[in-house]
Amino acid sequence: MQFPQALETVLETLERMRSEGARQPCASRTALETLNRITPSPHSVMESAAPAAAISVGRDSVEPSPTPRPTNENTDKLAAINERVTACVKCPNLASSRTQTVFGVGNPDADVMFVGEAPGADEDAQGEPFVGRAGQLLTKIIKAMGFAREEVYIANILKCRPDTPGSAYGNRPPTPSEMQTCRPYLMEQIEIIQPKVIVALGATAVEGLLGHRAPMHQLRGRWNSFNGTPLMVTYHPAYLLRNQSPSEKRKVWEDMMQVLERLEKPISEKQRNYFL
Ligand code: URA
Repeated sequence: MQFPQALETVLETLERMRSEGARQPCASRTALETLNRITPSPHSVMESAAPAAAISVGRDSVEPSPTPRPTNENTDKLAAINERVTACVKCPNLASSRTQTVFGVGNPDADVMFVGEAPGADEDAQGEPFVGRAGQLLTKIIKAMGFAREEVYIANILKCRPDTPGSAYGNRPPTPSEMQTCRPYLMEQIEIIQPKVIVALGATAVEGLLGHRAPMHQLRGRWNSFNGTPLMVTYHPAYLLRNQSPSEKRKVWEDMMQVLERLEKPISEKQRNYFL
């Protein structure tokens, strides 16, 4: 049985025992210490639950001490920013047109952070960046790099979908003023996560992060610095959807190999030959 299923079973059992009037089940201190050593989650089992085998309902058991739940510090910090983002009305037109804000997703301690421009219709509907067609392609790129999507962090310059007055369809790029307004949230995200590498996806992301515009063929494949963090520029996955040629895919892949090299992540022969 997988750990989450086991946990589920334990919780159900404990709930049933409680509803049947059993005195509060307790685990011995030794059992809790053992579980704290083996549990895969950063959260202590003292505050969550423990596998059934370690739980006893006996005289020599002790109540778990009410120590505060040790959560991931970055998760809490990001959640606090997200609360402000959720309530943000700095761009009144976007605040009134959005379904919801789209903060960012992934590992709060990620080595790599991908930054796009703004949520589109799919992201606005689901509340998660890069979940539409371009997002699915980005996920494939991330996997080809040897990461799970959950291992990296993904965010946008804008946390709201740019409105398209008079049209329910289509997306538009963010304006410079919208980017200026929203940028501080992204700055805070980067400061907390402290990725080893940032990947800017497309010219708008470059403008939002670095403040300059240039044709993508000049920008891509080059290292920049974002407040000291190495920043690689590559094409936006939506560009690859419009230009399906293997040579364009190869360019993005070469940029991603530079990222892997920077992270000192081994690159297999197979990976080296992708899109050749
Ligand atoms: N394009 C972006 O730049 N960001 C998203 O989240 C989705 C599409």
